[in-house]
Amino acid sequence: MQLYTVTGGAALGGRLRAPAAKNSVLPLLAATLLCDAPCTLRGVPRLADVDTSLRLLGAVGAAAGWEGEDIATRPAPALCGDIPPELAGAMRSSVFYLAPLLYRCGRVTLPLPGGCKLGPRPVDIHLAGLAAMGARVELAGDTVTLCCRGPLRGADITLRLPSVGATLTLMMAACRAAGTTVLRGAACEPEIGDTADFLNAAGADVRGAGTPVIVVYGKAALGGAVYAPMPDRIAAATYAAAAAAAGGQVTVEGCRPQHLAAFLQLLRAAGCAVEAGPDALTVARDPARPLRGGQEVCTAAYPGFATDTAPLAAAVLLTAQGPSRIYDALFENRFACAAGFAAMGARVGAKGRLLWLGGGGALHGAAVTAPDLRGGAALAVAALAAQGTTCIRDPGYIRRGYAALHADLAALGAACACTEADAAPAGAQNRPN
Ligand code: EPU
Repeated sequence: MQLYTVTGGAALGGRLRAPAAKNSVLPLLAATLLCDAPCTLRGVPRLADVDTSLRLLGAVGAAAGWEGEDIATRPAPALCGDIPPELAGAMRSSVFYLAPLLYRCGRVTLPLPGGCKLGPRPVDIHLAGLAAMGARVELAGDTVTLCCRGPLRGADITLRLPSVGATLTLMMAACRAAGTTVLRGAACEPEIGDTADFLNAAGADVRGAGTPVIVVYGKAALGGAVYAPMPDRIAAATYAAAAAAAGGQVTVEGCRPQHLAAFLQLLRAAGCAVEAGPDALTVARDPARPLRGGQEVCTAAYPGFATDTAPLAAAVLLTAQGPSRIYDALFENRFACAAGFAAMGARVGAKGRLLWLGGGGALHGAAVTAPDLRGGAALAVAALAAQGTTCIRDPGYIRRGYAALHADLAALGAACACTEADAAPAGAQNRPN
């Protein structure tokens, strides 16, 4: 359990660098299992999900570990296809190990990560695609077992919806399948292009990643690669949101602003000055002037408004003049952070996928609980705009996506700290200070 304390009311200022993207690093770590030679991922952030991935790799017999800021992997002589339940349940990204372990072992068992905090997150599209490529799929209780004799076969697959994870699973499987695979209705998120770039650097032949039709020519052999994963667009959006909520001026270096264009557009519409170059962005806001509300946001697949940035947008709009509404089209329970916003004095209501923000009022410090990763970050952003100190109890979500969010915000001038704490009594949740 971590306890983040954030004292609001001070404008931010400064520059910081976007880390490598969690949602690239996690599939890339799994994809190294497809390679026949050593791989190095450069500049990997020390996230809880990265640690979980390294434990998972170790548990199946793979050789992977830190070398300074990088992670190095070596092909292992024999791998085990049984993913331990405690690691499978610890992160959704355990699903990325289905295709590589099926290729390496001919059989893989994965206890499915249960109903996640964001709402139901089935894996039917992953499984249907692998079945179309020749895998035998068995579901017993909550455990899925996949088997195949010899390599999978290339196939022409239309995804039921553009799932990011399923696109990655099937792209990875196709790299080592016999023949050509066509993925139609694929997700277009930048992390898919990044994973394809890594695989191609290792000798794969993936074309069209980042568009709805991906063609993969399967290879009997792959080499290795030294690869720097793309910058984290959600971390960049978090720092931009912090500047917008607190006021001041923040520059995020080493990011790709075009990857968060929809979010930056919202900040501009709310009255922030946003300068976006090819690899840096600056967000400035006069803290004495209130932000503009009246925003209607609906999340969508890339390049639409990213679901992971919806709670951050809400944190920015809490104090804006005029009501706003945010609808999350991807997840049923995206706005569990609303209870924390309300404890901070915000006029806010969540009903299903819709979040209503009254705007206008002032925020005050409160004792709140991080309900999930992005909701926890959004509470920290909102706390920057509150008078007084907010204590965010976090059972471990924020570190899944930010190596040290408190240190990043402190580097920008925020009064922010993080301590390890024993679990506090349940009654301490979401109340005003
Ligand atoms: N879906 C299905 N069946 C499937 C797969 C997905 O019905 O087989 C549904 C999901 O239930 C959801 C929608 O499709 O309603 C979108 O899910 P998707 O598969 O695209 O998401 P994901 O791969 O599980 C990744 C990110 C999420 C991010 C989403 C959407 C990783 C590790 N996670 O999840 O990131 O919100 O794409 O962009 O890449 C985060 O970083 O905090 C995070 C949750």
